[in-house]
Amino acid sequence: MALNGDTNQLARDILVANDQGGYTIPTKGLYPHQWNWDSAMAALGFAEFDLHRAWLELETLFSGQWPNGMVPHIIFHKPSDDYFPGPDVWGGDHGPIPSSGISQPPLAATMARYIHAKDPVLGQQKLAKLYPKMLAWHKWFIANRCHEGAIFTTHPWESGRDNAPDWDTLMTSIEPVGLLPYTRKDISMVESSMRPHNFDYDRYLYLVSLGKKYAWNETELRKANPFRIAEPGLTFTTLRAAKDLRHLGESLGHETSELDKDIHSMVEGLDFIWNKDKGYFDARNTESQVFSGSLTNASFLNWYAGYHSEEMLLKLREQFTTVSYGVASHDPNSTKFDRERYWRGPTWAIVNFLIGKGLEDMGYSEGFELRERTREMILKGGFSEYFDPITGEPKGGHSFTWTAVVWLVWAGKD
Ligand code: SER
Repeated sequence: MALNGDTNQLARDILVANDQGGYTIPTKGLYPHQWNWDSAMAALGFAEFDLHRAWLELETLFSGQWPNGMVPHIIFHKPSDDYFPGPDVWGGDHGPIPSSGISQPPLAATMARYIHAKDPVLGQQKLAKLYPKMLAWHKWFIANRCHEGAIFTTHPWESGRDNAPDWDTLMTSIEPVGLLPYTRKDISMVESSMRPHNFDYDRYLYLVSLGKKYAWNETELRKANPFRIAEPGLTFTTLRAAKDLRHLGESLGHETSELDKDIHSMVEGLDFIWNKDKGYFDARNTESQVFSGSLTNASFLNWYAGYHSEEMLLKLREQFTTVSYGVASHDPNSTKFDRERYWRGPTWAIVNFLIGKGLEDMGYSEGFELRERTREMILKGGFSEYFDPITGEPKGGHSFTWTAVVWLVWAGKD
């Protein structure tokens, strides 16, 4: 599905078409609500042509923040028959708006910093209310998701990388007892070969049922939920968000020594997710301390967090020679690599952007290379959810908000 016409205009049209007023859905049908990290990307995209709308996106995201500081991964502003599991399954009525009970990689503070830079006067006004909310979310991560400085996920959906191979071992050990019969909606909209297996869905829903049973009480869930995996995606995005929050806090004249402390301990925590034997950042079970042995696109997010690794750069160059449209969500040389199954092989433009922008900002030419490849991939495959890393063919949902944003803010720039 090669793109015809003015690509910038097509990308803007997608944002406008997915705009629900105050928030933006990732795509129609498949994801009809406000998703957390998608929404932070939507804000960045709107900032290209409508700064007020960009700030509104972030304000609406934080309107779903729970009293404990958590910002949910899905906010159900309106009912929809298109999506399962909905608010009744989550029992996520602990915040001001029905929502899920878990969070997602925190991109909002980073995107707020970019948006703020476009108009610092407007930015200061908007941040006066948003900054304390973003800080509370950061503190929630440190209090509830931090193990030896690394950030862990309590559900595959919390990582944003649902069926990544990172959790395979743990998922196999979970017995989804007491699960009620359910019907998946996703596979009525996208081919099942591009989506997680039913085996995974059973466990996703079992973990949701645990959360609901314990009323999403973090202290109770610490004992009841076996799913605790420190992983590169959440660790690097939280570290980057903390650095950006510190910058924003300083610009507002706030005391930021607490953030300094957290940043320091998260940098130290990178040791916990560094798999020495394999030579890459890797997911690691916080209880058993066992590494997953998965080289994923999240492994390469270190530059996004301002952290250079020569070994990771070598791995990236290696991948450039293996596939045309990396960074693949899973190592193309692994036996588990599945080029169309969601987070087990396909390339995601959003993650390419985070990796590539990080590389560019740190002065590595591989960032420009990744931008070129992402540009070619989108021109060839359109604004799809993800892409085959070998052929660049579009996969998953289409007219996707964050792929359009990646075009507008990075891949489509001269
Ligand atoms: N990505 C999940 C889904 O496919 C939820 O976050 O529904």
